[in-house]
Amino acid sequence: MNLNLKTVAAASALTLATIAPAQAFDDADDAIEFRQSVFHLVAAHTGALGDMIKGKTDYDAGEATYRAESMAALAKMGLEGFEYPGSDKGETKAKPAVWSDMDGFKAKMAKFESDTAALASAAQSGDQGAVKAAFVTAAKNCKACHSDYKNR
Ligand code: HEC
Repeated sequence: MNLNLKTVAAASALTLATIAPAQAFDDADDAIEFRQSVFHLVAAHTGALGDMIKGKTDYDAGEATYRAESMAALAKMGLEGFEYPGSDKGETKAKPAVWSDMDGFKAKMAKFESDTAALASAAQSGDQGAVKAAFVTAAKNCKACHSDYKNR
């Protein structure tokens, strides 16, 4: 009897472990902190690359590639932090529209992802004119999304 119960408990624990999806966050606050951290990093790389492109700092092709590749990698990371259940509530600047219009939000994320991927390719090519054009295009995504989905 005793052994039987243990076996049943062990079997159901195993089932739960198998069914539960991989989860990156402890709770909604953790998911909010994650996505805000992603955007802080996005802003840092965008600012530094923008300064090089505007000539405020010396243009360095290696650094430009690193910044552009970082932007492209980060552009893929933010969405996960919005998909966590309950993360529409808490210390967030995200507008309710993120969740009421998740398809529209995902489309903006996808555009940001493809424009930053194009920026990374331009940087890898070493063509400074192409980097500048791709940067201007990629940077338009910030305001285009914030105006609909982020409170100031
Ligand atoms: C597809 C939508 C989208 C795109 C594209 C986007 N953002 Fe955001 N961003 C958001 C949302 C939504 C928040 C609010 C997150 C929160 O508070 O939970 C945010 C927050 C931020 C924050 C504030 C982080 C904090 O916690 O204070 C910064 C800075 C930021 N974004 C910069 C940028 C820059 C720079 C770009 C473009 C290179 C960009 N974002 C592109 C949607 C976007």
